[in-house]
Amino acid sequence: MNHHDIINQEPSLEKAPYACLVGGEIPEPANIVIFGASGDLTKRKLLPALAHMHRWNLLGPHSRIIGVSREQWKQSHWVNYVHDQLLQYFPDAVLNPPSWQAINKKLNFVRGDLSDPQLYQELIKTLHAAEDGKTNVLFYLAIPPSWYATVCKNLHDAGLSNEDAGFRRIVVEKPFGMDYHSAHQLNSEFQTYFKESQIYRIDHYLGKEAVQNLMVFRFANSVLEPLWNRNYIDHVQISVSETLGIGYRAGYYETSGALRDMIQSHLMQVMTLVAMEPPVSLHADDVRTEKMKVLRAIRPFTEDDLQNNCVRAQYSDGKVEGKRVPAYREEEDVAHNSCTETFAAVKFYIDNWRWQNVPFVLRTGKRLPSRVSEICIRFKTPPQNLFKNNAQQSLPQNELVFRLQPDEGMQLSMTAKQPGLSTAMRQLKLNALYSMEGAGMPEAYETLLHDVLLGEAALFSRADEVEESWKIVEPIMQAWAKEQDIATYEAGTWEIPGMDELLNDCCGAWRNCHADDEEQ
Ligand code: BG6
Repeated sequence: MNHHDIINQEPSLEKAPYACLVGGEIPEPANIVIFGASGDLTKRKLLPALAHMHRWNLLGPHSRIIGVSREQWKQSHWVNYVHDQLLQYFPDAVLNPPSWQAINKKLNFVRGDLSDPQLYQELIKTLHAAEDGKTNVLFYLAIPPSWYATVCKNLHDAGLSNEDAGFRRIVVEKPFGMDYHSAHQLNSEFQTYFKESQIYRIDHYLGKEAVQNLMVFRFANSVLEPLWNRNYIDHVQISVSETLGIGYRAGYYETSGALRDMIQSHLMQVMTLVAMEPPVSLHADDVRTEKMKVLRAIRPFTEDDLQNNCVRAQYSDGKVEGKRVPAYREEEDVAHNSCTETFAAVKFYIDNWRWQNVPFVLRTGKRLPSRVSEICIRFKTPPQNLFKNNAQQSLPQNELVFRLQPDEGMQLSMTAKQPGLSTAMRQLKLNALYSMEGAGMPEAYETLLHDVLLGEAALFSRADEVEESWKIVEPIMQAWAKEQDIATYEAGTWEIPGMDELLNDCCGAWRNCHADDEEQ
């Protein structure tokens, strides 16, 4: 079914700007049970994503959105809550009365304590069977990780992990563990009560349009493959810079820091997609097996590497986007002598035939000058410079950039002749921005929820992937835990001590991450 059919089915729904991008397969109706219904993730990401899916008729009339929380709410309170959150995060869903009425009909609320078996009995009574008699259920754990095991066990004991009556899938948010040991333990707990094929470990970076495009770009074009290796690529930079600080999340962030929060999950996942071999098929296990091979090939860190290839720092006060912001240590609930890193950069090497000695340099930080996420593939310079007699002493490197946000798209920089009588050269930037096509994009959570409902697990991490990535970063975590102090950088600047030195063995400097590409 294409998107026109979808629009025809629900004439009350407006045509969204990304109509051309929808056209997704329609999943079977399901009960979407959100544990942590009153939480931040639910209001900011899950409810808007579900409302978007409803708009495209991807939920079906027999689907339900069941909020579970300890709050002393009644059904009417939940409905009002959803209304108010959508008004803030996706107003179109509410301002269009037929759309809101249809969403409203799908809403149910179950109150109770996650540790109380009675809650799960109440839940069973609320589940709605579709026309074909099937009762599919997606459980979304938007709750603190300390509750995961309890909920899994109680679901299992209530018979809710059993797939006789329909599919039962459980979605779990990051952080998945805090180190290898805890991730391994968590995997065992999940796998005691659910089969691996029922578990969806979400990493929302994999739902981003530009990340998925990376796969298409790599494997649906033949021009790239001959270049995609150590013979032509000098190094790869993956950068996620944020302007925000830690907000109200000190409790979590103080125990996490940038390495755990971003590098172990989002950035390493992206790295595996850049580096993996073409999978046999797009079946989840074929893709994940290739990603896993990349992780297994990552060169372990020696003592010297821990010194030379890993950089961390913490923001001091400064000015971001024109506003003064406090130092990390002055943020609410942060220890005044905290050594938690708000910036981390790590240089990885992948010891295999394709990537031997090609640095993959990953960096991420908060309170940086702009919010930009991108992957930059930096190619080697041509073997000989034929144009030395001009002012141009050295040839610039070609660069292929995948911009994850903002302005998702791709950019290839090439050297070209400057028009005129000389052979002077200039840099041409060939841009293919999605936004130029006049199309909006599905949010990462929308893509991922749609995939869970379809049973497509390729964009979710498998148990062994998560454990392996913890194993890789654990020596860094241990080395940093011993340090008594931490370098600082002024908020709103890229003045990070040691960051430039990470590229000492790479050709070229860090790509200048600006939100406005003209400033490059
Ligand atoms: C989350 C991290 O997983 O990703 C946050 O916990 C971070 O600290 C966020 O801000 C970044 O996501 P995005 O999609 O805004 O780049």
